[in-house]
Amino acid sequence: MTNIGDYQLGGKIGKGGFAEVYSGTDTRTGERVAIKRLERSSFNPDEQIKREIQAFRKLDHQGVVGYKDHFITPRYVYICMELVSGGELYDYLEKATKFEEERARGYFRQLIEAVEYCHAVGLCHRDLKLENVLVAANGRLKITDFGFSKNMTRAAPKTVVGTALYVAPEVVLNNGEGYDGKAADTWSLGIILYLLTVGRFPFNRGHVGGVGPGMNSRQQDRFRTDNFRAPAHLSPPLVELLRQVLVADPGHRATIEQIKQHPWYTEDGRIPAAPAPIVTPSKAARSVSVEDSSASPAVAWDVLDSPKGDFEQPEEADEPQGFDGFGSDSDDEDDWSGCDVRNQPAGLLDQFSDALRFR
Ligand SMILES: Nc1ncnc2c1ncn2[C@@H]1O[C@H](COP(=O)(O)OP(=O)(O)O)[C@@H](O)[C@H]1O
Ligand SMILES: [Mg+2]
Repeated sequence: MTNIGDYQLGGKIGKGGFAEVYSGTDTRTGERVAIKRLERSSFNPDEQIKREIQAFRKLDHQGVVGYKDHFITPRYVYICMELVSGGELYDYLEKATKFEEERARGYFRQLIEAVEYCHAVGLCHRDLKLENVLVAANGRLKITDFGFSKNMTRAAPKTVVGTALYVAPEVVLNNGEGYDGKAADTWSLGIILYLLTVGRFPFNRGHVGGVGPGMNSRQQDRFRTDNFRAPAHLSPPLVELLRQVLVADPGHRATIEQIKQHPWYTEDGRIPAAPAPIVTPSKAARSVSVEDSSASPAVAWDVLDSPKGDFEQPEEADEPQGFDGFGSDSDDEDDWSGCDVRNQPAGLLDQFSDALRFR
């Protein structure tokens, strides 16, 4: 039996493009947890893993998987978190093909509230998709995987990251001048809403290998369209909402605030939207300040005898970048040279095989 700090590692329960996730047990309390294992390599640079933890640990919301702890060994970083036992929303949709609008609305409202919270804390997720939405035992949804998330409080995101079939057009088409992380997440939520109610993707993004500066105009054109087909079974209000969200121009795309006022979302006012989250000053401070290491005594890179702060320092970093000093969320490598295009394993439908993930 492998022990990671105070956690005992169990069997594998999930796999993404970057990591494997195992069940685990907190040996102090017997509590079951999930443990994400990221191999430290050029594929998963330390700087990237650090950001994931940095973002993840500031979140505290019922619609977001709860962070618990992290550990580092010379080969791996382990992120311990709340175990979500129901699996991915992806599997539920695959079984059902598509959901009734009422069920989809319940799910969509939860996602909107969770993402609205992330934005209120200053984070955009940038990889919202069915595989990163988990279903808890009580049927509620929880967003996971902050591997691509970005702190927006210092600078707008620029890097091309995401999954091709979910990524907003402006993320792919931007020429390094940056994009609005909130609007980009909102697009992905629109894709999810379409998937939940139609059972397939609204747009064919084709094979998009080479996303980035080398992309030819035909490849780019695949990301320009926002003209999707609305099947006849969709209710007119839902089609209207989808047409307001899946707008290629982020300046004309509905905001989360506007989505929450839409008649489909509120069922004609019968279920009013939840109020915007209030991020208390203490939470806001916690979310943007340099970490107080005394607040999380178990958190350390050196738990397993790895030298502390052995992450490479970004060249221009002017703030401490040790793993316990989460102060700076610099986007130093936020340029094309940092982009690295790779394949995402195929999934659900044929069109899923076109999914590429890039960062
Ligand atoms: N807290 C959790 N509880 C249960 N399963 C999880 C949890 N977090 C992730 N998983 C499963 O593991 C998969 C991979 O985790 P994820 O964080 O998305 O890794 P990657 O960064 O490689 O995409 C998820 O798609 C999901 O199926
Ligand atoms: Mg994932």
